[in-house]
Amino acid sequence: MKHLIDPTDLTKGEIDEIISLAQDIIAHRDRYQGSMSHRKLATLFYEPSTRTRLSFTAAMMELGGNVLGFSDARSSSASKGESVQDTVRVVGNFADVIAMRHHIEGAQLYASEVSKVPIINAGDGSHSHPTQTLTDLLTIQRELGHIDGITIGFCGDLRFGRTVHSLIKALSRYQGIKVILIAPPELKLPDYIKQDVCERTGIPYREVETMEEVMPELDVLYMTRVQKERFLDEDEFDRVKDSFVLDSARMALAKKDMAVLHPLPRVNEILTEVDDDPRAAYFRQVENGKFVREALIVKLLEWKDDPAHGMPSEDKPVVDPELRCTNRKCICNNEHAPHKFRRTETGALRCWYCDSKVR
Ligand code: NCD
Repeated sequence: MKHLIDPTDLTKGEIDEIISLAQDIIAHRDRYQGSMSHRKLATLFYEPSTRTRLSFTAAMMELGGNVLGFSDARSSSASKGESVQDTVRVVGNFADVIAMRHHIEGAQLYASEVSKVPIINAGDGSHSHPTQTLTDLLTIQRELGHIDGITIGFCGDLRFGRTVHSLIKALSRYQGIKVILIAPPELKLPDYIKQDVCERTGIPYREVETMEEVMPELDVLYMTRVQKERFLDEDEFDRVKDSFVLDSARMALAKKDMAVLHPLPRVNEILTEVDDDPRAAYFRQVENGKFVREALIVKLLEWKDDPAHGMPSEDKPVVDPELRCTNRKCICNNEHAPHKFRRTETGALRCWYCDSKVR
């Protein structure tokens, strides 16, 4: 069964197929209308969303399909204590594909272990957000004409920003990528992305603390919101919330054809004075999200039972009753998911579900 839980569930070839189908849908929208008639998408959203849920809904509607689901877990059986595995076992009888967002990390991976329909991860805590990544890749392709060879600056909350984690993972499949990380010390990129992704795949990265020093080098500036809801300590959030603000003066330092991306919602990190700059691509990015989700739904249903498009083969999990995942927000510390781990190429053990360190 093909699911999309993590960007690395897709091969480079599969990413290319989705991006080029999205471009074909943009060019010939009428050809795809009705292609999903009699098909149903379930959107199970345990955490707030505007763009992701509505763009999945709009995508399925444009393909002539139907959508069911919930946008507030309080109105679902989760409020009675139902597990995510039981919920997808049930919903798999009603829908052909499920898009799920959850505040618990690894919830979708755990759910996919028992699902009879493809699961799409629409965001799990601060861990991953692979459909935003497809949106970002399509946007970079359309804005710059290529993805290989770009220098991309990630700015803001690189610690909790799941869109950043997923995009860096996907970019590790491309050639000649350079990553610049612009964040205060409290919001730095997690070690597992630096070590298991950048260092393992040889993506050069540099950590800096001001935007000004790197603006002229960037082909893409990826701005992010400081993720208030993920902080355990409100004072810490107040200290870092306005760390980086993009304004016209900083845009003046950038290349004439740089693209500014932001997964949105924005709070203070991009002043509205930047919106009219032709390099501000974040509202075009939103529309790309709808097209790429159309392409993803079509492809996942096509690949569903095709052995040529399985999930990446994983090593066997390491299970040891002495070992525990250290992440309180991981599925294995919230539901009855087992504590299991994978050994990375550097020999470290990481949680199977959320990539956290092991105790
Ligand atoms: C992002 C998310 O939910 O992670 N938004 C989105 O899906 N477009 C980014 C954010 O919430 O800051």
